[in-house]
Amino acid sequence: MTGLLVGRDAESAALRGRLASPGVRPGPVVLVAGEAGAGKTTLVEDALAATATAALRGRAAGWACPAYEVLASALRPPVRGAAGPVPGVLAQIMPELGAPPAEPGPAALAAAVCSVLAGAAAAGAANGGGLALFLDDLQWADEATLSLLPALADAAADLPVTVVGCYRSDELPRGHHLRTVRALLRRNHQLAEIELGPLGDDDVARMLTVLLGAPPAPALAAVVASRSDGLPFAVEELAFALRDAGRLTGPTVPEGCVHNAHMYYLLANSAEEQHAVLAQLKEQGIGAVFHYIPLHSAPAGLRFGRAHGDMKVTDDIWSRLIRLPLWPDMTPADIERVLDAVKRALSVAPAKQKAAS
Ligand SMILES: Nc1ncnc2c1ncn2[C@@H]1O[C@H](COP(=O)(O)OP(=O)(O)O)[C@@H](O)[C@H]1O
Ligand SMILES: [Mg+2]
Repeated sequence: MTGLLVGRDAESAALRGRLASPGVRPGPVVLVAGEAGAGKTTLVEDALAATATAALRGRAAGWACPAYEVLASALRPPVRGAAGPVPGVLAQIMPELGAPPAEPGPAALAAAVCSVLAGAAAAGAANGGGLALFLDDLQWADEATLSLLPALADAAADLPVTVVGCYRSDELPRGHHLRTVRALLRRNHQLAEIELGPLGDDDVARMLTVLLGAPPAPALAAVVASRSDGLPFAVEELAFALRDAGRLTGPTVPEGCVHNAHMYYLLANSAEEQHAVLAQLKEQGIGAVFHYIPLHSAPAGLRFGRAHGDMKVTDDIWSRLIRLPLWPDMTPADIERVLDAVKRALSVAPAKQKAAS
């Protein structure tokens, strides 16, 4: 989110080294481990950009997916863009290609995958960099994809290709299939491992400087370092909370009541802020709206209705309310996207103070 990698010098150098020389052992697989929010994806993307390595990306989802889905999502762009026919066995991974000739063994399947990778690597070489097959969030990957990794490591050994995987080390219970695959790759010297621990206090302070736009007071840096446990994601959340304190507030559910889950809103601290945030969300493709015009001030209300009092509270809340998207099939990824957009909207829209009334 900052677009700047803070710290992680050794880990970054190790990964960049691997990407720059794919043939070196142990390899061609590199696994980056760390807890959620430790900065695994950020580290990999930074290293890919720094080494001009082209990447085919697949990311496992936190819910059940068809076999080979992670791999299929990475391979779809080059397969769709292929000039000639692709090996028929790839249909085992990408069902949209039709029926596979017969259920292929892992070696045949890995060879077919590598034929796609070789093509993409040749295209990448034209741009002066190698190729990475980047499979993210492997703690959620389907077993078929994980089981194919050892055969893929064998088949890719002579290609200018690095297979990079990330996984949450704290979400790998005993018996998780990735443990078995990891052990096999280790035994075959096909695996380099990078572990992301907490950031040191100095790096937390550096992150805060980037996020807040100025060096934090030492006491603030110390509190954030201790509250975040050096977890970059938590540092970011705390920094945003500090920066945006009071700009938007969530719904209040009065005591003795329960939320009816019908709508979710945020309250801006002024009508100007509401307009700015709604405009920003719209720009990001998020359909957030204000609530409907209060009935007493709607055209029909003005003509046919009458209100008791000046309805100051209604007018005030209406002018500041921002309804966020909410629907029954909303996935955690959808929620994340909306919240990221709100955070971005706040960072782009300058704070507008409540007008004196
Ligand atoms: N070294 C870092 N320097 C600056 N920001 C970082 C760093 N590592 C992670 N972040 C930020 O922390 C958040 C979580 O990082 P992410 O790479 O998504 O974690 P993970 O993939 O381990 O769950 C991101 O918004 C990212 O920008
Ligand atoms: Mg990640």
